[in-house]
Amino acid sequence: MTESAQVTIRPITQADLPRIAEIDTKVLGQSRPGYWEMKLALLEKHPQHASLVAELDGKVVGFILGGVSRWEYGIPETVGWIDTIGVDPDYQRRGIARTLFQEMSRRLKEMGVTSIYTLVTRRDWKLLKFFHRLGFQEGDMINLELDL
Ligand SMILES: CC(C)(COP(=O)(O)OP(=O)(O)OC[C@H]1O[C@@H](n2cnc3c(N)ncnc32)[C@H](O)[C@@H]1OP(=O)(O)O)[C@@H](O)C(=O)NCCC(=O)NCCS
Repeated sequence: MTESAQVTIRPITQADLPRIAEIDTKVLGQSRPGYWEMKLALLEKHPQHASLVAELDGKVVGFILGGVSRWEYGIPETVGWIDTIGVDPDYQRRGIARTLFQEMSRRLKEMGVTSIYTLVTRRDWKLLKFFHRLGFQEGDMINLELDL
């Protein structure tokens, strides 16, 4: 099913904070309001972001956060990052995340990006399936960790 024709995609604004935090709580099962306050404040300062929301009949139903690499981990500016993506469970499986991703990709390409990176927990089957469906494949980077 695709209802993406009715979906409006637009850049994220500070006013979207409460609704994004609400969706995030629904998809994650826990709230992290401080995180979103910090994130949206940072976005305003950095023009190289391509973070968007999806609206259906005037209501924000999903978001995607990301932008151009600023050499984090030595990764060049031709790489874009997807930081977080979320769609309200009441509106999932209608092509909303795909539409958000396509618009973000278009904007990143205009900024000179030639490939997009993201990180997914290997146990998150749903998110892995979603990214795989969009054409993502396992990349060259290995995440390293050490317990303290
Ligand atoms: C993953 C997520 C963004 C998908 O949003 P969505 O709007 O439902 O996705 P779409 O409808 O655009 O799906 C596109 C394709 O991805 C795949 N997909 C999406 N959700 C899926 C699921 N639950 N199971 C299997 N495949 C899925 C499908 O192949 C789908 O295409 P199809 O419906 O034609 O088969 C959404 O489920 C979500 O918000 N999950 C929580 C994300 C999260 O944990 N974020 C925090 C860390 S980044």
